[in-house]
Amino acid sequence: MSSLLIKNIGLLATSPDSSLKKGIHQKDVSMIKNAYILCEDGKIKEYGSDGVLSEADEVIDAKGRLVTPGLVDAHTHLIFGGWRQNEMAMKLNGAAYLDILKAGGGILSTVRETRKAAKEELYEKARKSLDEMLSLGTTTCEAKSGYGLNLEDEVKQLEVIRELDRNHPMDLVATYLGAHAYPEEYVNDHEGYIKKICEEVIPYVAEHGLAEFCDVFCETGVFSKEESGRILLTGKEYGLKPKIHADEIDAIGGSILAGEIHAVSAEHLIVCNQEGIDALSKGGVIACLLPATSLYLSAEFAKARKMIDNDVAIAFGSDFNPGSCPCLNPQLVMNLGCLKYRMTPEEVLNAMTINAAAAIGRADRVGSVEPGKQADLVIWDAKDLNYLCYRMGSNLAHRVIKKGETVYLNEETD
Ligand code: NIG
Ligand code: FE
Repeated sequence: MSSLLIKNIGLLATSPDSSLKKGIHQKDVSMIKNAYILCEDGKIKEYGSDGVLSEADEVIDAKGRLVTPGLVDAHTHLIFGGWRQNEMAMKLNGAAYLDILKAGGGILSTVRETRKAAKEELYEKARKSLDEMLSLGTTTCEAKSGYGLNLEDEVKQLEVIRELDRNHPMDLVATYLGAHAYPEEYVNDHEGYIKKICEEVIPYVAEHGLAEFCDVFCETGVFSKEESGRILLTGKEYGLKPKIHADEIDAIGGSILAGEIHAVSAEHLIVCNQEGIDALSKGGVIACLLPATSLYLSAEFAKARKMIDNDVAIAFGSDFNPGSCPCLNPQLVMNLGCLKYRMTPEEVLNAMTINAAAAIGRADRVGSVEPGKQADLVIWDAKDLNYLCYRMGSNLAHRVIKKGETVYLNEETD
């Protein structure tokens, strides 16, 4: 048995329990001053305020700093070959995201690179991204396939996710996103591709336990509402829980579908209107918002306040991917949550911890500081939550702890 005591915590900010925080509860955060956390064998044993007498094998003095649960990134496209810096010039010349895709670039150019890449290459590249994510405070993340678009290369991506989950300190949750685009070989045979997904790839992925979720890019020129529904319902039959990229660029019914099929989460929702918000609310769908993508696409920002007013729970993700958001920094996501969604730091913290954990089926083990949960914690170089959300562009993580072990320490601030 090994124990860890974190003492002299100036402020411990955490969701008080593991329930989903929606509507007026989006802001429910316990703020415990002068706190300690005692961990045992990688789990939280107890926490409280003031004088703690417990002995422990390892003692960390937080020196009055802010501590939060490890951050949870509920949406990433972590595994991909190459980058797409060439698109910056195209964007500056006025090319729109969907036009680049239509011309065979965008997602399809990353598909070409990902198919070419050996599994070891994808593993090594993603490992580096995971190291960086840990150093920024993310301790659990979701990761999607979607750049293989055939059985072999989708499985290659999902196997890399599984191996990284086993070997890297980060906890990863896998999502099958075969319906990310129509691959070049099926550009004139959409039915054929949907058939392949439903009859070949989903059964294989489910049988081999390669993913927990199934996702679809429901968008103009990509998958229609009807096509998305068929794919997600097939996934559901095979035990893959539905997620959906909805209303990112055009509101073509993605959020309505999410409500109808009770998707676990709907992602983006940049242009989601009142009808969509009502559908999410009625269907109990978590809104997984990705503000760094709005920034990167120079798009508008999702109507988060309206969603909160309509009892929709908000979770956050980075959307890290080589096209619409080459950014994996959760701290920037939190800044934007306050500045662009007008959410309070408390609401933002729940979006980036307990609600994000719920969006990827992990609220029972991560996302809050509670006895029995994983000892995933961040000691911030900050005194309070306001400071964490207010500073921008610097890494404020001082020490990141995963399952009771320090996985990142900023020696400068030690
Ligand atoms: O969430 N919109 C679809 N998928 C990603 C972008 C992927 C890419 O551009 O490579 C997104 O924005
Ligand atoms: Fe995405």
